[in-house]
Amino acid sequence: MQVRAVTLDSVGGPVRVEQLDLEEPRHGEVLVKLGASGLCHSDQHAISGHHGAELPCVLGHEGAGEVVSIGPEVRTVEIGDRVALNWIPSCGTCFFCLRNQQHLCSDGSQRIWSGYLLDGTSRISRNGQPIFHYCGISTWSEYMVVAEVNCQRIPDSVPFEVAALIGCGVATGVGAAIQRGEVSKGDVVVVVGAGGVGLSAVMGAQLAGAERIISVDRELAKESLSKELGATDFIYAGEQAIEEVLTITQGRGADVVIEAVGVPALQESWLAAVRRGGTFVYVGIPSETDVTKIFTADFIRSEKSIKGSYYAAMDSALAIDQLCAAYLEGRLPVDKLITKRIALENIQVGLDALVAGEQGRVIIANE
Ligand SMILES: NC(=O)c1ccc[n+]([C@@H]2O[C@H](COP(=O)([O-])OP(=O)(O)OC[C@H]3O[C@@H](n4cnc5c(N)ncnc54)[C@H](O)[C@@H]3O)[C@@H](O)[C@H]2O)c1
Ligand SMILES: [Zn+2]
Ligand SMILES: [Zn+2]
Repeated sequence: MQVRAVTLDSVGGPVRVEQLDLEEPRHGEVLVKLGASGLCHSDQHAISGHHGAELPCVLGHEGAGEVVSIGPEVRTVEIGDRVALNWIPSCGTCFFCLRNQQHLCSDGSQRIWSGYLLDGTSRISRNGQPIFHYCGISTWSEYMVVAEVNCQRIPDSVPFEVAALIGCGVATGVGAAIQRGEVSKGDVVVVVGAGGVGLSAVMGAQLAGAERIISVDRELAKESLSKELGATDFIYAGEQAIEEVLTITQGRGADVVIEAVGVPALQESWLAAVRRGGTFVYVGIPSETDVTKIFTADFIRSEKSIKGSYYAAMDSALAIDQLCAAYLEGRLPVDKLITKRIALENIQVGLDALVAGEQGRVIIANE
């Protein structure tokens, strides 16, 4: 079949919306009609070359839709199922999956960067030339063929646009706060970077019962959105920001600080806002060659912890189930995170908004 999709041919862009050929799903694969797809900064990292990706590819890794056709031997999903797409499916048998660290699955993490589906081939092509699958799911398209293991069924009452965001930004931010930050009732939590991931960390901190949630961003437009999603305070990311956090915490520092931008200078400086014995979570991703320096003597004496946090920081399939349930119970206002909807054809407008940093999440709405 022919589909309209967003392709990236070379680092630096531009991205293009074009007609591509999409093959039928093979063994263990399904065809998904995308209902919605989010614009995550990781896609922008692929465009800018900040992170590598196999090119040319169809971008997008935060999507949800309906299964409209299935290949042979598909057992876990049926035509008509509504699914969120999970970019690190667990193999269930590797060292990590057996130790309940499914998001670190050897198979899953290797496969996302291969640019192919499970059998090492692509279903997408242009004039007979194969196009790579970004993160194995390439959601910036009208339809996409994915492995059935990438599909996580969602309840009928969860809108595709909400499920799409749960598929990356929300799972990532909530996981950073709850799984890696281990935010507890009464904690003071700082989230640096109020984008899709950071605002989801704010929602996660609230779910975990934090008493004070301080959102920090260089865009003042993020104040009201941060507060709608659960932040008690907003601090402009200027020179005084860390000082302000220290003042709020009587000079002690916050129990948990989450860096959700991916900038070494922020990873370095915000360690000073973590209290002795507290935790600093790095969830924003710098480029592969960036280096972050810390003063180790002080780090040791103050017994701070720095933790990386990847995707849901737990089994992502289970996280998608739990986050859909929390949304339906009214405990996770994911819909408020969506501040702009665009058509696939207007992808550049969406990317410009993402880079400007004024939106919560921009969504490609196909439904
Ligand atoms: N660890 C993971 O598994 C994982 C998953 C998804 C995304 N990410 C990464 O998380 C980061 C954030 O992604 P996103 O989609 O939320 O991005 P986004 O573009 O939606 O948000 C980034 C926010 O950071 C703010 N910002 C930029 N510079 C700042 C500064 N100096 N101080 C304070 N705020 C600043 C921007 O104004 C914006 O609000 C990216 O690096 C992305 O690649 C990591
Ligand atoms: Zn993402
Ligand atoms: Zn595994």
